[in-house]
Amino acid sequence: MSTLAVYPGSFDPLTNGHVDIIERGARLFDRIVVAMLVNAEKSPLFSMAERVEIAGTVFKHLPNVEIDTFEGLLVDYVERRKAQVIVRGLRAVSDFEYEFQMALMNRRLNGNIETVFMMPAEQYSYISSRLIKEVFSLGGRVHGLVPDMVEERLRKKVASLKARV
Ligand code: PNS
Repeated sequence: MSTLAVYPGSFDPLTNGHVDIIERGARLFDRIVVAMLVNAEKSPLFSMAERVEIAGTVFKHLPNVEIDTFEGLLVDYVERRKAQVIVRGLRAVSDFEYEFQMALMNRRLNGNIETVFMMPAEQYSYISSRLIKEVFSLGGRVHGLVPDMVEERLRKKVASLKARV
């Protein structure tokens, strides 16, 4: 039986921590779907189309990585896709409580789906999309923490936001 895994999230923006988990997942599972939650945030920095385009470009060399979007309950999407596994990244103990609650709630909603936690490489263990957006918008350097394409798009995005004010 081939194993299909779903790696869900907002990915606003994709970080090198996400990339690390997806590459590990692509080695472990037959296929991994990067599933982007539609409407996770009321005012995302990157539109869904931009996030899909970025991830599609970053993972075009990995044929078993697919990019998709979903709405509603994650377990319903996972079942619809006939996937068996939800992948989540665990960076630090502080992630644990929220992830533990989600994993057990998802198990209660659908006992056939297993959540698998993976640790990113330690150099990415403190990165989050929220921190990247904050640091970059205040002029900090995020080189090496996000894919080059994301850095480039962040630069353009911030420039166009500044031009508007
Ligand atoms: O990028 P994030 O915030 O880590 O991703 C969170 C995500 C998308 C995995 C979570 O919010 C989610 O699964 N949302 C879909 C709605 C749902 O199923 N909620 C119940 C989760 S127990």
